[in-house]
Amino acid sequence: MEPLRDHGASCLPMMIMVLLCLGGAACGQLSDDFYDDSCPKLESIVQARVAAAMKAELRMGASLLRLHFHDCFVNGCDGSILLDGAESEKLAAPNLNSVRGYEVIDAIKADLEKACPGLVSCADVVALAAKYGVLLSGGPDYDVLLGRRDGLVANQTLANNNLPSPFDNITVIIQRFKDVGLNTTDVVILSGAHTIGRSRCVLFSGRLANFSAANSVDPTMDPALASSLQQLCRGGDGNQTAALDAGSADAFDNHYFKNLLAKKGLLSSDQGLVSSPDGAAATRALVQAYSYNSQRFLCDFSDAMVRMGNIAPLTGSAGQIRKKCSAVN
Ligand code: HEM
Ligand SMILES: *[C@@H]1O[C@H](CO)[C@@H](O)[C@H](O)[C@H]1NC(C)=O
Ligand SMILES: *[C@@H]1O[C@H](CO)[C@@H](O)[C@H](O)[C@H]1NC(C)=O
Ligand SMILES: *[C@@H]1O[C@H](CO)[C@@H](O)[C@H](O)[C@H]1NC(C)=O
Ligand SMILES: *[C@@H]1O[C@H](CO)[C@@H](O)[C@H](O)[C@H]1NC(C)=O
Ligand SMILES: *[C@@H]1O[C@H](CO)[C@@H](O)[C@H](O)[C@H]1NC(C)=O
Repeated sequence: MEPLRDHGASCLPMMIMVLLCLGGAACGQLSDDFYDDSCPKLESIVQARVAAAMKAELRMGASLLRLHFHDCFVNGCDGSILLDGAESEKLAAPNLNSVRGYEVIDAIKADLEKACPGLVSCADVVALAAKYGVLLSGGPDYDVLLGRRDGLVANQTLANNNLPSPFDNITVIIQRFKDVGLNTTDVVILSGAHTIGRSRCVLFSGRLANFSAANSVDPTMDPALASSLQQLCRGGDGNQTAALDAGSADAFDNHYFKNLLAKKGLLSSDQGLVSSPDGAAATRALVQAYSYNSQRFLCDFSDAMVRMGNIAPLTGSAGQIRKKCSAVN
């Protein structure tokens, strides 16, 4: 693993990022010291729970990062992904049998209800859990802005429609990000989250086509990688998993971008950042830059996580602070 870095000196001024709000809502009210007085133990409670979960299963850091992404792209970062019920986003195609870590969020929330009852939103717990998932995977330390409130509704249709699919082409993926106020640069930076974590065979085995014919493999995939993935997936169990960043599966680093340049992206949507004719012009140069410059990736990733976390938060008296993350009060 790369050592943890203090990137403060070399990143763009955080002040500028803090002022940027996405999705039209008043995120000016989010701040990095929101709970300093009301729940001073907040960060240490989250860190302890995430560390314990990652000790049991290192991958959980990645799963918590993805949970935050899937929360933010649907009605903003409002904890709506955690709600149970008929409209539950958990049941939407991009999430079902796929998004993980709900029980870690519940455990953190239970600790918080003892330490500072009724004060910390589930949406903020998710944002903080993602931060520690990144940090404890060896990634950058960034200041999460806090003060989000919890949404009152889940929306399964929006979860199905707004989240990018690994089968989408780069044009569609860029549009999904644009819909929530993020741009093409953000698509590349945040795809770098795939430096950690796993994907199930069912989401990339289409690239392997016919398991017995080497020439039917996706030409944008390195043949050696294709061959090892064929071994993994050939039993037909779509739930088998492969590292999104082969060769550096659990370390938060810029190796993912090096893999893309070597045709070793796992998902079609990953490889599309350099190999698809329509995406290459806009995204390939940036992939190259991050493959050379780890520091720049870690800094830009930090800033982009703050931007993603600022998508349409509920603040002030909007929404509520849930007592239990899976249900409204
Ligand atoms: C650019 C569009 C994106 C697409 C199409 C995409 C798609 C996927 C897919 C298909 C998986 C595997 C799911 C499974 O096996 O069930 C995955 C995993 C993951 N994604 Fe993305 N993703 C995208 C962007 C992002 C972003 C923006 C983040 C976070 C900032 C992120 C973080 C992750 C992480 C950490 C994992 C591994 C999760 C785990 O191991 O549990 N992804 N993604
Ligand atoms: C989900 O969002 C769509 C689009 O904004 C809206 O039309 C629909 O009524 C929402 N569904 C629920 C259950 O809130
Ligand atoms: C990308 O996918 C969309 C939706 O399927 C399609 O309309 C569009 O033509 C595709 N773009 C390219 C360049 O293939
Ligand atoms: C995307 O947004 C970021 C932050 O607002 C900005 O620095 C960057 O130049 C933008 N990229 C493009 C391609 O517009
Ligand atoms: C896969 O390719 C092999 C060799 O070309 C061929 O014999 C076989 O019929 C193909 N299988 C399928 C399911 O297409
Ligand atoms: C994967 O596991 C889930 C949950 O156990 C199961 O419902 C699903 O059918 C499995 N999917 C595949 C493709 O095997």
